[in-house]
Amino acid sequence: MNINIKTKEEQDKMRVAGRLAADVLDMIEDFVKPGVSTNKLDEICHKFIVKEQGATPAPLNYRGFPKSICTSVNHVVCHGIPSEKILKSGDFLNIDITVVKDGYHGDTSRMFFVGKPNIKAKRLSDVTYESMWLGIEQLACGKYLGDVGNAIQCFAEKNRFSVVREYCGHGIGKFFHEDPQVLHYGKAGTGPKLESGMVLTVEPMINAGKKDVKILPDGWTVVTKDHDLSAQWEHTVLIKKDGYEVLTLGRDQR
Ligand code: MF3
Ligand code: CO
Ligand code: CO
Repeated sequence: MNINIKTKEEQDKMRVAGRLAADVLDMIEDFVKPGVSTNKLDEICHKFIVKEQGATPAPLNYRGFPKSICTSVNHVVCHGIPSEKILKSGDFLNIDITVVKDGYHGDTSRMFFVGKPNIKAKRLSDVTYESMWLGIEQLACGKYLGDVGNAIQCFAEKNRFSVVREYCGHGIGKFFHEDPQVLHYGKAGTGPKLESGMVLTVEPMINAGKKDVKILPDGWTVVTKDHDLSAQWEHTVLIKKDGYEVLTLGRDQR
């Protein structure tokens, strides 16, 4: 494992990339309404990233991914491909944005409700959000990577939900996915020791039912095997001497 420590200059570039990724999510919120297609959301985000931000959407052509954003609706866990699918009231979806600016990546996702929120979906999203923050709060010098996964797993399971094992958070910087893998489950006090200058994503995928997932024949879309709901939230976070700095806070979180 080779965990990159970012220099001051790199940290500044990652602050910019993180801010831009969060700005895309702030921008798209108003467009998530019954009747809109996920392709339309992709098109709006693509134009905004390229034309307004002068940045690049990292997913486009990444290992053959065909679109600029991921849209994961209801029982889709992650890596949902935007399509002609029309969103309807009661759906919820994760929109995952990764931008590259000046050679550095910013990666963040949120859950959005279409029309009237479904009560069960709202509770799953809330528990997932809280679990992400409990994980982020473990990011401090001298703590261990396993502390992050442990905090997330304990909280999700206490709420009778399950943690997806096959996908994880990651180091991020010049590359979309760098070492280490940030597991959303595990044992406190295990794994690499956290150091100032590391930049990691925390992005738990939490299922309402069983933890098992499968990939659809398109080679990307990950769904729950039991077709029950799944939620995910993601931030990119810099570890500092005296704690952490979240680089992808939204307008209302700053
Ligand atoms: N943004 C996702 C992550 O959080 C990765 C998406 S890969 C893609 O790591 F190819 F599907 F875009
Ligand atoms: Co990520
Ligand atoms: Co992401």
